[in-house]
Amino acid sequence: MKQVTTATLKQMKQENGKIAMVTAYDFPTAKLADEAGIDVILVGDSLGMVVLGYDSTVHVTVQDMLHHTKAVTRGVERAFVVTDMPFLSYHGSFDRTLDAASRLMQEGGAHALKLEGGQEIAHTVERLVLAGIPVMGHIGLTPQAVHQLGGYKVQGKDVASAQKLIEDAKALEQAGAFSIVLECIPAPLAKLISEQLTIPTIGIGAGVECDGQVLVFHDLVQYKSSLNPKFVKAYSEIGSFISEALGNYIKEVKTKDFPTEEYSFSINEEVIEQLYG
Ligand code: KIV
Ligand code: NA
Repeated sequence: MKQVTTATLKQMKQENGKIAMVTAYDFPTAKLADEAGIDVILVGDSLGMVVLGYDSTVHVTVQDMLHHTKAVTRGVERAFVVTDMPFLSYHGSFDRTLDAASRLMQEGGAHALKLEGGQEIAHTVERLVLAGIPVMGHIGLTPQAVHQLGGYKVQGKDVASAQKLIEDAKALEQAGAFSIVLECIPAPLAKLISEQLTIPTIGIGAGVECDGQVLVFHDLVQYKSSLNPKFVKAYSEIGSFISEALGNYIKEVKTKDFPTEEYSFSINEEVIEQLYG
């Protein structure tokens, strides 16, 4: 089986093939996604909201990301694994940034790291790339900046902010990023950015003209996700299946319909007689 690399992803853009990416936060999901043939698995800091129950990604730590990255990489053979650097882990001294990067890649096994931001983090991206780390950018709606952006809103709707996103994308490419996530921006703007870059863009709420797409796993399968933005398409209703299964289990425990003999272990009757005395 041929492993996906940054070179594969670049080639996919050149050949007009689309990159399929999904988040995963644990071993079984990563294994299912990998076996289904996903190209890129993102250990997104969305895990803070999706599986840890926080109200934003601001609370997620490097330790959290490391814990989940380890679980994911154990389940992956073919896909390219990208891990998010969490809030404030790449804005202090470069030594601190490098320490976080080292933990996520050397201990966690991530193949690449994703950082939110444009021109303001281009220098950091450049230094990480010089250190040999493949970096994925992330612009548009950047959830770590939710309190600055004033909520989860579509970005780049006027000339100035659209112009800034184009400049951000170019700065990240210049800095050596191998790909950029475009989140929640108008489809025609995402198309324009994708055309102006040689590196692949991955869209989420950014239209069909990006070089790839990403969705949060729990949104995609509708596994009790609290968020349901316009760009999410539900490919299953797994949450209602789980609720139904749990409801049936609870009912059968109460009525003693579970476990039947089929699910129980037997023992020689004489042994039990002796135990009863
Ligand atoms: O954390 C995440 O899941 C992400 C994607 C939605 C791009 O950053
Ligand atoms: Na993220």
